[in-house]
Amino acid sequence: MIVSGSSMLKRAKLLVVDDEPSVLESIRETLSREGYEVVALGNGEDAIQILRKEEFNLLLTDLMMPKVDGIDLLKACRKLSPETEVVLITAYGTIETAVKAMKEGAYDFVSKPLKRMVLLKTVQRALERQSLVEENKALRARLDEFVRAGDIIGKSTAMRRVLSLVNQVAPSTATVLIQGESGTGKELIATALHDRSKRASGPFMAVNCAALPESILESELFGFEPGAFTGAAKRREGRFEAANKGTLFLDEIADLAPQVQVKLLRVLQNGTFERLGSNDPISVDVRVVAATNADLKLLVEEGRFREDLFYRLNVITIVLPPLRERVEDIPLLANHFLQKYARKNSKPVHGFSPRALELLMAYTWPGNVRELENAMERAVVLCQSDIVHAEDLPQDIADRAQERTEITFGVGTSLKEVERRMIEATLAFTKGDKRLASQLLGIAMRTIYRRLAE
Ligand SMILES: Nc1ncnc2c1ncn2[C@@H]1O[C@H](COP(=O)(O)OP(=O)(O)OP(=O)(O)O)[C@@H](O)[C@H]1O
Ligand SMILES: [Mg+2]
Repeated sequence: MIVSGSSMLKRAKLLVVDDEPSVLESIRETLSREGYEVVALGNGEDAIQILRKEEFNLLLTDLMMPKVDGIDLLKACRKLSPETEVVLITAYGTIETAVKAMKEGAYDFVSKPLKRMVLLKTVQRALERQSLVEENKALRARLDEFVRAGDIIGKSTAMRRVLSLVNQVAPSTATVLIQGESGTGKELIATALHDRSKRASGPFMAVNCAALPESILESELFGFEPGAFTGAAKRREGRFEAANKGTLFLDEIADLAPQVQVKLLRVLQNGTFERLGSNDPISVDVRVVAATNADLKLLVEEGRFREDLFYRLNVITIVLPPLRERVEDIPLLANHFLQKYARKNSKPVHGFSPRALELLMAYTWPGNVRELENAMERAVVLCQSDIVHAEDLPQDIADRAQERTEITFGVGTSLKEVERRMIEATLAFTKGDKRLASQLLGIAMRTIYRRLAE
């Protein structure tokens, strides 16, 4: 689904530096004729001056020049304008220096005598990469807007709604039920509810109701007195007591045994319970947040979950939509995790190829955000360059993404028509996000607006 980006890149601004007037003039002419905006200079000093004032997409410089040579200029350019890609022009015998220059951050080099096609290809490749880096930076800047306390990321309407609900209900003591598929961020939301409440300085206790057998879960939640059961030698506080003045997070609530359901109902109703083996009621001030990936209402209908408890828990419900229903969030989350694992692994990976991004967005993510996070960690580890390519993603993603991204054209469809339908399909895919669409298609946003207007 990727259209060549050359049309957009023709408008790029290039700085060309060479001390040989004839070479300089021939490069200037070749590149101008291709539609690039070219500034041509005969020495490095002038080039540094202009780099201070103007922005260029690409610097193409000769290596051997008197006074300020190509390497000096490259270093100056890295400092003055880190976004500008640098390509070196080398004469025979200077290849080794060119390799050294690439370690200093040059993108590529071309050898003299210059061949027109090689020069154009190299320039185009460097510019493609430059625009990719720019796009990824823009994406990261936008990402920052959406990162709030607790690191909940999302700009989709669904996630905005979730976040505003979280902020609204956090200060109250109302019980909250969080529903969502596995890996959608239920625990993250539960901690956010705690962190944004007046209880934030109190304890946050999490209990996984599915992980413990019934009898142990009951003593874990409510505590016990000595002799309550065989092996109960000393008194022990339960999680309800430990969570006093804080929040108790009951994960996988659907798996709660009937006997424990009754006891939980009572705490929710009047705030009291007894330790196992005792008749003394204990009262606590605990806010309960429960989570499940099951349809609790259905379980109630099937008689597997108490109806009265369901209504007690369900005072406020927060539904976390699966990731495949909020495709707009995928690039944000992917970039977020990419940065996280790049930092962790000390690898300078900072973005995605258009194809990789497209695959990520087309995949259905049965494991939701957790699966995306794992895929990004793996990609950072496998990645051989500074951006993640399709090959760095798990095979599953490439396989299953296929169906959702393919569109077919009959032989003889006019290119204009192909372009129009491709833009429409991509926009439908990005839910109208033009910036993202332009990134996937490798064309300027301008072009999209123009085609739509046509
Ligand atoms: N919107 C989000 N922004 C940032 N990170 C997220 C978001 N949603 C989920 N995550 C991250 O994804 C991972 C899985 O989230 P979490 O454990 O909260 O999911 P869950 O719904 O509780 O999953 P499960 O049902 O399997 O227990 C965590 O590392 C979490 O930090
Ligand atoms: Mg969880």
